[in-house]
Amino acid sequence: MKLTLKIWRQKDANDKGRIVDYELDNVSPDMSFLEMLDILNQQLIDNREEPVAFDHDCREGICGTCSLFINGRAHGPDREITACQLHMRSFNDGDTIYIEPWRAKAFPIVKDLIVDRSAFDRIQQAGGFISVNTSGNTQDANAIPIAKEAADTAMDAATCIGCGACVATCKNSSAMLFVGAKVSQYALLPQGQVEAADRVKNMVAQMDLEGFGNCTNTGACEVECPKGISLENIARMNRELIKAAF
Ligand code: SF4
Ligand code: FES
Repeated sequence: MKLTLKIWRQKDANDKGRIVDYELDNVSPDMSFLEMLDILNQQLIDNREEPVAFDHDCREGICGTCSLFINGRAHGPDREITACQLHMRSFNDGDTIYIEPWRAKAFPIVKDLIVDRSAFDRIQQAGGFISVNTSGNTQDANAIPIAKEAADTAMDAATCIGCGACVATCKNSSAMLFVGAKVSQYALLPQGQVEAADRVKNMVAQMDLEGFGNCTNTGACEVECPKGISLENIARMNRELIKAAF
């Protein structure tokens, strides 16, 4: 396959940035999208040009770092996969592909396609944990009975990989799907009850402090989430917040 790539290049946070065109030949449909970028970078290095900076780690849909906006969609055209799980067979010979970073005020661009998502870390640190007695008298988690439905729903929420596609897709740059998933993960389990009120209040306060927008129930986040995190988690977070206020 022969492709025209239009890639966002930005030297650093202060650079204005621009789209740069690249031609790439002999792209196999069996390559992953990131392998295709590796080949482009090798070509750039061979020509003594600066390679394109992009985030990646696991390359198997687990770590959530491969934050790419591909042809105007978070993680590309296929549903419920990350950019690293996308394959070039989803494109055609002669295609033009636009590759851009996540765009949100709370995710400033570091370089090229890499954004700073430490705002998510700070939201997690504000309450995305449980305090456990590790003195030696810790109760075995398996000894606490949990209804199957609650365990399953909590597990579904826990599959959020913190990729930020929900924020990048939302017209308001809202992080409520991410925070909703993290709050739900604990709110549904007995271990999460002790700190439940403080958790939701602190995580929502940190989310607002970081400059994420509000939810207007558009639902784009759920459509583009690679893990299929449901909007129900936002509703649950709002219920937890109201409960905490009383
Ligand atoms: S809710 Fe979905 S899109 Fe948002 S950070 Fe979690 S996995 Fe990514
Ligand atoms: S590189 Fe880890 S999810 Fe894509």
